Amino acid sequence: MTSSVVRATPESVPQLVASAAALFAEDGGRRDPYLDVSWPRRDGLAYFADLLHRTDSQCLLALSATGSPIGHLIGRIRRANPLRPGAVVGVLESLRVDPAHRETGVATALTEEFFAWARESGANQASVTAYAANESAIRFYRGRGFAPFELTLHAPV
Ligand SMILES: CC(C)(COP(=O)(O)OP(=O)(O)OC[C@H]1O[C@@H](n2cnc3c(N)ncnc32)[C@H](O)[C@@H]1OP(=O)(O)O)[C@@H](O)C(=O)NCCC(=O)NCCS
Repeated sequence: MTSSVVRATPESVPQLVASAAALFAEDGGRRDPYLDVSWPRRDGLAYFADLLHRTDSQCLLALSATGSPIGHLIGRIRRANPLRPGAVVGVLESLRVDPAHRETGVATALTEEFFAWARESGANQASVTAYAANESAIRFYRGRGFAPFELTLHAPV
């Protein structure tokens, strides 16, 4: 694999925004009629710039051999709470790879960085949420050790 994984910097926040906007358009935009697909372009700059300063957050970019951004991963740490006092959860909040670079191990490399960071940050579990219809993403996550735990059911009202 000739791509690399780097931590995002303040200069690369617009690249995170662009990748997140493409993710919203491709994934939630096709699967959730209530998702606001304009959110990344409207609020993403401030959101990701804030995450960069936080020790409970991880913002990664994947770069091609020529240094162009080809994907991103956002990780967060959810601290233990009174309902689950022993659980420190590494939450894989967002992951996308450019279509032209898929199936070459880019997301695997991003996810390995995420697991290492979550472990170093004290997490003892990792979690990710995917649309039930996003079968390729679910297959990808299952291949990286994730298994269904809770199930959210929706009904029209
Ligand atoms: C899901 C997604 C992130 C996977 O990204 P990716 O970079 O293609 O993933 P990888 O290449 O690391 O792994 C994908 C498959 O390719 C295989 N692969 C890895 N390196 C490979 C290589 N060099 N050659 C061929 N196949 C390879 C992996 O084994 C994996 O197969 P498996 O899941 O059966 O184990 C990507 O399809 C994507 O961005 N989808 C749209 C956005 C999305 O749905 N995001 C998730 C939201 S919850």
